[in-house]
Amino acid sequence: MLKVITIHPEHPEPELIKHAADALCQGKLVSFPTETVYGLGANALDEDAVARIFIAKGRPAEDPLIVHIAHASWMTRVSRSIPPVAWQLAEEYWPGPLTLILPKLSVVPDLVTAGRDSVGVRVPAHPVALALLKASGILVAAPSANRFGHTSPTCASHVLNDLGDRIDVLVDGGETNIGIESTVLDLTGSEPTILRPGGVTREQLISTLGSVSIMNDVSYAGPQISPGLLAHHYSPRAELIYFYGLLAQTALTVIRKKIEEEISRGRRVGLLMVEEDLRHFTGLPVQEFSLGKESDLWQAAHRLYAGMRALDDQNVDVILARDLGEHGPGLAIRDRLRRAAKKVLP
Ligand code: TXA
Ligand code: MG
Repeated sequence: MLKVITIHPEHPEPELIKHAADALCQGKLVSFPTETVYGLGANALDEDAVARIFIAKGRPAEDPLIVHIAHASWMTRVSRSIPPVAWQLAEEYWPGPLTLILPKLSVVPDLVTAGRDSVGVRVPAHPVALALLKASGILVAAPSANRFGHTSPTCASHVLNDLGDRIDVLVDGGETNIGIESTVLDLTGSEPTILRPGGVTREQLISTLGSVSIMNDVSYAGPQISPGLLAHHYSPRAELIYFYGLLAQTALTVIRKKIEEEISRGRRVGLLMVEEDLRHFTGLPVQEFSLGKESDLWQAAHRLYAGMRALDDQNVDVILARDLGEHGPGLAIRDRLRRAAKKVLP
């Protein structure tokens, strides 16, 4: 039976935290808010509990999990060799939306790392997540708390819809703040490489490191480096069509044609766009979800997944979205839209 615990997001009640922490220590599955998205947590050193994460999500075993820790010093509990740059990044960005890939210690079960010799680790910034990690004292493996391939959850009702019948405890701390996942940065190679853009921007990492490589080709066909980089991920139920590589004005003209074409085929159209874009389509029989002002891409990131789910709830057949550039969180938004898309146009 699922137990839902409603908790204060900034000042979590210690007795409620203790309840959730005890459940984790007993090998149960506990979903909790982080500053990025909701996680589905289990004791990382308990193989049975970790196995249940994969079953609950329907996640393939080749896709490794991030280990969540309460303090940067706990990196030594999961990694055999921590480069100086990891300590520097931890100092600057933790607690926060940055996952570091490090050489793993053998105590970390192969199941957690999908058989890799490396482990992903981060200190989340959400007060509830941090309190839970501190109270339990354990390493918590937690992917995003959605069914595999679906949009990540940014509030408790999203988790309930995807996994309500498959988890033990859901800690409801309201909406997550950032709304897209952490940046995954690989520190095991010859230079730091972004495997997944996210809540810490490329510009921020460049300012700390001087330079950073990026692995960003969705059509990348070689061996899978980070399985989260699979195309068709983070997807709504509706067919998402993503308009990429056009100037805004041209994109809006092309999108208008597409809207008219879809409507004439009897399809329900949803628009996932910034306010300025939506104004071009007022009066058309479409469902709209605003990502906020184009000048505030953090807001757009915050609303992105909620928007996909809201449009799905309105039973649209197709969702149209356009590229918002690669500045700041734009890069992560681009990455998620490309992976969520069934089609990239033109
Ligand atoms: O913001 C986040 O990162 C959220 C919250 C809950 O912390 N978690 C999350 O987990 O997004 P998940 O499992 O949905 O995505 C983890 C990503 C995947 O792309 C996975 O392939 C990559 O991290 N990853 C984890 N360990 C890795 C490793 N050892 N080597 C390469 N990639 C790894
Ligand atoms: Mg995920």
